[in-house]
This record gives sequence, structure tokens and C-alpha cells, in this order.
Amino acid sequence: MGILRLSHVDVRVPDLDLATAYYTEVMGLLEVERTDSAVYLKCWDEVDHHSLKLVYAPRVGLERISFKVEHDDDLAELESRIEAYGFPVRRASRGEEVGQGESIRFDTPSGQEMELVREVDKVGGVLPRLNPPPMPMGLPGIAPPRMDHVLVTAEEVGEATKFYREVLGFRLTEQLLDGNGHQIGVWMERSHSPHDLAVVSGPNGGLHHFAFWLDDWDHVRRAADILAYNGVQIDVGPTRHGITRGNTIYFFDPLGTRNEVFTGGYRPDPDFPTITWTEDNIGKAIFYYEGDLNERFMKVHT
Ligand SMILES: [Fe+2]
Repeated sequence: MGILRLSHVDVRVPDLDLATAYYTEVMGLLEVERTDSAVYLKCWDEVDHHSLKLVYAPRVGLERISFKVEHDDDLAELESRIEAYGFPVRRASRGEEVGQGESIRFDTPSGQEMELVREVDKVGGVLPRLNPPPMPMGLPGIAPPRMDHVLVTAEEVGEATKFYREVLGFRLTEQLLDGNGHQIGVWMERSHSPHDLAVVSGPNGGLHHFAFWLDDWDHVRRAADILAYNGVQIDVGPTRHGITRGNTIYFFDPLGTRNEVFTGGYRPDPDFPTITWTEDNIGKAIFYYEGDLNERFMKVHT
């Protein structure tokens, strides 16, 4: 019961054509649908309608994070839990958003708008379901198979984490504590991956990055080749995280939103004991090889 996985990330872009060109030609996503003010994109192995929505807006920023729930009863159950916690919930009916059914929307304690949805239109992946090859041939760009996770910022990480765990049922895989034992970063999952949602210290409502999954380390290296060839600004990497143990590259889309490609990591069971990192090890926690954080990585978010 409850949240199954990430459904889609909706980001604001001041130039819809430029953003679409980047996400289709460099990232290698597929354009599924377009309206006057939005473009809906998906990765090649995703069967649901979209995992990324680009929304035209004068300034960049996070519009909404949408998670998919497993059962029909989950929306009503979670709606009452969220309202009991003191956060108003709005219902969005089928037709209000392209490609999906009824959903609930609310602001989280970390200031992001979140959506929970049960029914998403199935448009199918690129590969056949009968005797498929392991990957499609000839897709442009990096072409990740799927979206993986989102990292947001919060003024009070501990307070936000309490909501995500107690109300939405996220499980805490890792936490980063300051010298007083307060959480300054948390990594949480619902899909048996090291994280579906992470929160770090920063302003409420902020988006640090969203990440695409790649199938192995060799694909991360190939992604770096493609990014460099296309003149994309690389923030950090290719390298490895201490937290999650994943291999990674951070980089920026042409409008300034940070993207990541991510692979590896472990596969936590629901009884996975939380791993704790202390602030004096923050460098290795985030970038294990460098052991250090650059200023841009700490300060820049949208
Ligand atoms: Fe990440």
C-alpha cells in the first residue's frame, strides 16, 4: 500500500523550445505530447505517459513532484493522513492534467508542491514486450532508460523528514547529521532503491536536482562524452557517492536546472538499517573520490 515510486517531475522553463531540444537531443528523452505551454517527455523504458513535464514560466524552478501510488484506496487514505497532519489537500480530476487520472496535491513542510496519482495512461516503452533486445538501437543522446530520483532543499530537514516518513511512509536509508545530531541531509525510498526522494539543507521549495538512471558505469562514462561533446556544463563527476554508493555525473540543462545521471548503489529491503554520516565526513559522503564539495554544488539550486 502507499507510494510505489516517482511518477514525474514538473519543472518550469523560460524557453520551452530550447529545453525541449536539450532534453530530446542531448538527454535523449522521447517527446510524448505537447500543448501551448508544456511538453511531456519520457525515457525509453518507461511505459507511463511521461516522467518529465517542462512547463513554460518566466523563471526556472520546480512546479511539482508527482509520485505514483499502488492501490485505488491509497489516494483517500493518504489524503486523510496529510490533512490530519495539518496540510490542506486539493483534488485534481481526470482531464486537469494530460496523461493521468485523478490526483491529490499538497504543499509539503519543505515547501515543494507534491502530487500523488494512481492512474497514469500507459503509452508503452520503446522495446517490444515479446522477445525484446536489451536496449533500443539508434536513439540520440544519453538515452537513459528511466527517471530515478529527486533531491529537494528544506530549511528544516528534520521536520520535513518526519512528514515524509510518518505521513507518506518513506523509509530512511541514509542520513547526514551535523555536530549537534540534527539532520542536514536525508535519503529516503519507497522503491527498494537507495533513494527516491532526498532532502538537504537549503531554502524551502528548492530543487537541487533530478536524476536519470543509467544501467551501468560504462554508460556514465559514455554520458560524460556526450555532455562534453555538446558543450553541456558539467558540475561534478564522473565520480562516486559515499551515500547511496552510486556512480554519478551532475550537470546543468541550458536553463540552469541541475540534472544527474546515476547508476549502481545497493538494493535496500524494507528493514534496511539506516546508515549515518557525520558532517566532518561530508566530502566523502557526497563525493567519495574527491572527499570535497565545490561551492557551486552547495549553493546552486532552482
Ligand atoms: Fe541524486
